[in-house]
Amino acid sequence: CGIVGYIGNKDVKEILLSGLDTLEYRGYDSAGIYITDEANQGHLFKEKGRIAALRDKVDNSINAFSGIGHTRWATHGVPSVENAHPHQSTSGRFTIVHNGVIENFEEVKDAYLPDVHFHSTTDTEVIVQLIAWFVESEELDTIDAFKKAIVTLKGSYALALVDNENPNTLYAAKNKSPLLLGTGEGFNVISSDAMAMVRETDQFIELMDGEVATLTKDSIKIEDLAGETIERDSYTAHIDANDLGKGTYPYYMIKEIDEQPAVMRKLIQQYQNENGDLEINESVLSEIKESDRVYIIACGTSYNAGWVGKQLIERITGTPTEVHLASEFAYNTPLLTKKPFFIFLSQSGETADSRQVLVQVNKAGYPSLTLTNVPGSTLSREAKHTLLLHAGPEIAVASTKAYTAQIAVLAILAECVAKYNGVDSPLDVAHELGIIANAIETVIDDHEIFERLSVTHLSTSKNAFYIGRGIDYYVVMEAALKLKEVSYVQAEGWASGELKHGTIALIEDNTPVISIITDKVSGPHTRGNAHEVISRGANSMIISMEGLDRQEDAYVLPKVHDLLTPLISVIPTQLIAYYTALHRGNDVDKPRNLAKSVTVE
Ligand code: G6P
Repeated sequence: CGIVGYIGNKDVKEILLSGLDTLEYRGYDSAGIYITDEANQGHLFKEKGRIAALRDKVDNSINAFSGIGHTRWATHGVPSVENAHPHQSTSGRFTIVHNGVIENFEEVKDAYLPDVHFHSTTDTEVIVQLIAWFVESEELDTIDAFKKAIVTLKGSYALALVDNENPNTLYAAKNKSPLLLGTGEGFNVISSDAMAMVRETDQFIELMDGEVATLTKDSIKIEDLAGETIERDSYTAHIDANDLGKGTYPYYMIKEIDEQPAVMRKLIQQYQNENGDLEINESVLSEIKESDRVYIIACGTSYNAGWVGKQLIERITGTPTEVHLASEFAYNTPLLTKKPFFIFLSQSGETADSRQVLVQVNKAGYPSLTLTNVPGSTLSREAKHTLLLHAGPEIAVASTKAYTAQIAVLAILAECVAKYNGVDSPLDVAHELGIIANAIETVIDDHEIFERLSVTHLSTSKNAFYIGRGIDYYVVMEAALKLKEVSYVQAEGWASGELKHGTIALIEDNTPVISIITDKVSGPHTRGNAHEVISRGANSMIISMEGLDRQEDAYVLPKVHDLLTPLISVIPTQLIAYYTALHRGNDVDKPRNLAKSVTVE
């Protein structure tokens, strides 16, 4: 979920709505705003579905200068108008928006609110009812009731609260979920990220766990739960509001696929020093040198990039590397070596599952590095080191350019570690990334081939398989994830040798099976596996790399360095996912049930 708040001198409706538009990547099953007009009258608007639907519902004749808003990704309670935020106390005095999950909401309800009638089935309504209860039953001030509610509740939250008896103030607090305060002349804002409010200001103040903020249009006061005032400077968010648009593209996903060559070139520039050598902060390199094993922690597409990263780090630096799903690692931690070094891969830098692991890693005092696309994000702030992906805002829910940027930055890191350790790197990463940028362009230029493949073989198919071995196996995991995310075709990415041990039972006449072959050692075996499925009626499409190609192949990728083939072999699979979704009539950028940044565990 995403939240925004604004108090100041401009009409708030459009500020909140366009902020929520930008935050839609955090969820989009329902949305709402609460605004206070010039006569201090509050107005609540909520709608199921997208921000566009909410926009249609908002009464444009109201002039309002303060308000809060929310876009939801349902956890507790189905997507509906009743469950959409903002939520209000029964009296209507308090109104709240919430990102996160309150774990003890049922206990709190039983202990404090047995007689309160609830209007929704959300955990959030408990927060606002509890605040009201503390004010009404214990005669606390709003700020004290807010603090007491926070102490009573367990879980994750970013909150913005309005008290309609004092509408010239907004209250905010956070625990685990991200929240920023933005400042400007005559106004202040609350936002889940800087992007959503960058049209208003580029000056932001971080709010930390266990702090409460009180905002008026001219002031921000931050205090801890004991009432101690906290002074914190603002920082400048370097985000170009122009990067947030789609330009002439029909969807962000295709725009972001198209941006990949530029991202590769930008990364070379960003990580090269004045002598043209790749350079990374020495303390990162020395900590990796000191460590006896690297642990990569990630979710989703970043997890798939992590597998390629493992290969790169092991092959280039000789350091053993493991890859773990954050959600598994957190509660089923493997036996660690004596000197682990942790790498967190996260496009958004906000994923709660990954953050949960980072909290444990910090507690244990292990060194950590976050690779993220979002400067100032939670995982970036909380890890010891950060390397940025420099991919520009990724808006489409399905990740494309962040995946390739993660692999490229991991390759850069691996080369720098090798050099630092005095090991000869098997490749010149900057040079190879330049070749890759051109090769990606060539593949994207051939997009019509992939559109045709998608229309012919995938647009009506109920399932599909990607197969590959070695480095190609890592790519097919991502290829299958991408296809299912946006096209809803049930897709699996399999180690091609493993297919015959079970999954081959699913092959029927015309089942699409896409093989990726860029690895010369295992390639012939995958080709053999492709023939096994052809014999069972499958519709086989082979995507191979120049030098390993045969007449039968559906597409031949330009040749790039053996260790970096995922950067090029993933491109057809991104295009296939995009065109399949497009021709199935899906909302490519906002697939059902998903959110780009999942800030709940
Ligand atoms: C969500 C998104 C995925 C993404 C994953 C990890 O589930 O829908 O596309 O790969 O989170 O996100 P992160 O920002 O940590 O890379």
